[in-house]
Amino acid sequence: MKQMVLEGSTKLTGIVEISGSKNSAVALIPATLLSDGIVELDNVPMISDIEALIEILTFLGAEIKRDKQKMTIDCAKVSNKEIPEQISKKLRASYYFMGALLGKYKHVEMYFPGGCSIGKRPIDLHLSGFEKLGAKVEVAENKYMVDAKELIGTDIELPIASVGATINLMFAAVYAKGKTRIYNAAKEPHIVNVAELLQQMGAKVSGAGTHTIEIEGVEVLKGAQHRVVPDYIEAGTYVIAGALCGENLEVKNIVPEHIASLINQLKQMGCSLTVLKDSVRISKIENYKSVAVKTEVYPGFPTDLQQPFMTLLSLAEGTSKVEETIFENRFMHVPYLNQMGANITIEGQIATIKGVKAFHGSDVVATDLRAGAALILAGLVAEGQTVIDGIEHVLRGYENIEEKLSNVGAKLRVREIELSRV
Ligand code: UD1
Repeated sequence: MKQMVLEGSTKLTGIVEISGSKNSAVALIPATLLSDGIVELDNVPMISDIEALIEILTFLGAEIKRDKQKMTIDCAKVSNKEIPEQISKKLRASYYFMGALLGKYKHVEMYFPGGCSIGKRPIDLHLSGFEKLGAKVEVAENKYMVDAKELIGTDIELPIASVGATINLMFAAVYAKGKTRIYNAAKEPHIVNVAELLQQMGAKVSGAGTHTIEIEGVEVLKGAQHRVVPDYIEAGTYVIAGALCGENLEVKNIVPEHIASLINQLKQMGCSLTVLKDSVRISKIENYKSVAVKTEVYPGFPTDLQQPFMTLLSLAEGTSKVEETIFENRFMHVPYLNQMGANITIEGQIATIKGVKAFHGSDVVATDLRAGAALILAGLVAEGQTVIDGIEHVLRGYENIEEKLSNVGAKLRVREIELSRV
């Protein structure tokens, strides 16, 4: 078990360089299975979710070379085996192997995916999309079996613009016969990043980043070189850190447009920030105004930033509201923020945040990835010391967070603890 220990009352000054997107990389790596050639990926974040995907690909027979953020993946010797449950349940994104293996081999057997417990997170839309493409889906206990004699392009309308279903259906459709159209597709930057890799491999994919994605099936996909898009959730998290305790903090290597919804909210709060071509410079101000925010699919306010943003709202003047519309169980950070001095009440999917003057350090628990990020932000500005258990959740998604924050002035360390102390 790992803990993070933070000394509060921090000022953050200098430059934080943002890594490649977790949610993009976790789809790009399974996508390499679809290629008959060698795929080189650059800007791959060094986080534990990527380690888990490498474990799965290696188990399937892929040859992987890794040099820091560069990965070379050769899937020529892959065989379509059942992925053991203990590896697939390590992360949510193991579900991308379903679309990729089904697309390539027309057959896949997989256990339920893992990931953060932030809601029910069914994958019925992935499965019904596979069925529309001609596959037969069987569910036995905690395992899916998906099989198709052939996959045939079709029109699929998603009732929810699901990120995972959009990507998985693109994977399943690249080798299908004829044209597939995905209506009400998700539009997140990583959808575009994944479609670009498929295009470079020779797939005929168009419309990514809009409501409708079209895929014309091909027979062969070749090798490619591709760069992971900057992580807009990591970028947003550090921008919020800058609003909390920055003194000219520069969050660099980002696409500011990807966090436009956050920047708009920060401006409404009265925040002092400068948006440059590939960075945002931000400093703390004394009196933030309260706002009302609702999470939405991209380009709306991201659910993944709702938790870190609530830390900042806790210190704003007056009463703010946050409505979570994407996941049913994404307020697990709230009792811990309250323990640190916040005044947040929850009714259904709405959190009401009455501004307080300060946080105080406490012993808290990161229940999921972004809950952990919210607590780290609170710990940075709290009076005294904060100890966060369960920090593994955060290390799944934030590359070198200890080093990145230390480099701009935070006092923190991650330490191993013995189980008996937990
Ligand atoms: C992805 C991201 C996650 C982010 C989320 C929303 C990855 C690995 N994870 O998760 O960080 O918070 O997008 O931006 O990229 N739904 C169904 N049935 C389905 C699929 C989804 O009901 O078959 C529901 C989900 O329960 C949720 C909503 O649709 O309420 C959105 O989910 P989705 O966009 O699929 O999120 P994930 O792919 O799980």
